[in-house]
Amino acid sequence: MMSARQQAWTSDSPETPLLGGDVTVGVVRSGDTVRRPPGISSPAVRVLLEHLEETGFDGAPRYLGVDDRGRDVLSFIEGETAGRPAPEWVADTDRAISVARLLRRYHDAVASLGVPTVFDGARLSEPQGLPPALEVHRDLIGHRDITVENVVFREGAAVGLIDFDLARASSRADDICNMLQWWAPWMPAEDRPGPLIDVDPYQRTRAMLDAYSLDPAERRLLVPLARNGAERSWHLMRHRALVDGGGWRRMWDEGVGDAILRRQEWLRRNERSLIESVS
Ligand SMILES: Nc1ncnc2c1ncn2[C@@H]1O[C@H](COP(=O)(O)OP(=O)(O)O)[C@@H](O)[C@H]1O
Ligand SMILES: [Mg+2]
Repeated sequence: MMSARQQAWTSDSPETPLLGGDVTVGVVRSGDTVRRPPGISSPAVRVLLEHLEETGFDGAPRYLGVDDRGRDVLSFIEGETAGRPAPEWVADTDRAISVARLLRRYHDAVASLGVPTVFDGARLSEPQGLPPALEVHRDLIGHRDITVENVVFREGAAVGLIDFDLARASSRADDICNMLQWWAPWMPAEDRPGPLIDVDPYQRTRAMLDAYSLDPAERRLLVPLARNGAERSWHLMRHRALVDGGGWRRMWDEGVGDAILRRQEWLRRNERSLIESVS
């Protein structure tokens, strides 16, 4: 019998579009697989998903191969995902805590991969005016896109991380910043999904960091990294909109740049409370 990976994947079964993301057009479900149009990150994501499979990590799709239309074939993770508008359950603190636990398990599994050169392509060219990244030790491949749409839940708990297109060399703190941005959330109320408008970001930050068991030295990096990331992200998003176009351009035209400026201001204004909540 052929293993799943040797299988000649065809595309003659019925397909259902999978919505929810901003960037990848044409993600579909076909039976118990997902088909994703190949992108610049495909070779790196393959290496990453195969490593996770080898370590026995069950919280990510399996890489299954390429189909007859050149699309990446991944396993479909059964469960509940947030679409848009976001469902009320994204405000549930127990769910947020389970995301932090899943991220911890992911980091512990991915750490032994190190930073393979296939991820060099994930490094963006540095557009003019881009503030330099804070220098921290980036020795694992972070997910770096832990939005409410990119986590699969079963029975109220996070069981799967999906959409590794932005995965790149990171510190644990870089990835945790990204998670807190979306799930705590570290952004002004006006830019949050409806159900998160009234949550207390400081309380959720404490709960998520405790669930992750982040050590004190890395906790101290979180607020500076978030501020540096927000500064850099305005330049990087604009660069992507101009150079890559597509979904990036659409997001920029829809005002993502102004939302990043508001987040920079929110991080500045609430810096003291944020530092307290991570300590
Ligand atoms: N392997 C998977 N298992 C379950 N659902 C998935 C999987 N891959 C994608 N999806 C669903 O499809 C949506 C869009 O896919 P995603 O890979 O996140 O693409 P995008 O780059 O557009 O965000 C996700 O938010 C999720 O609901
Ligand atoms: Mg997505």
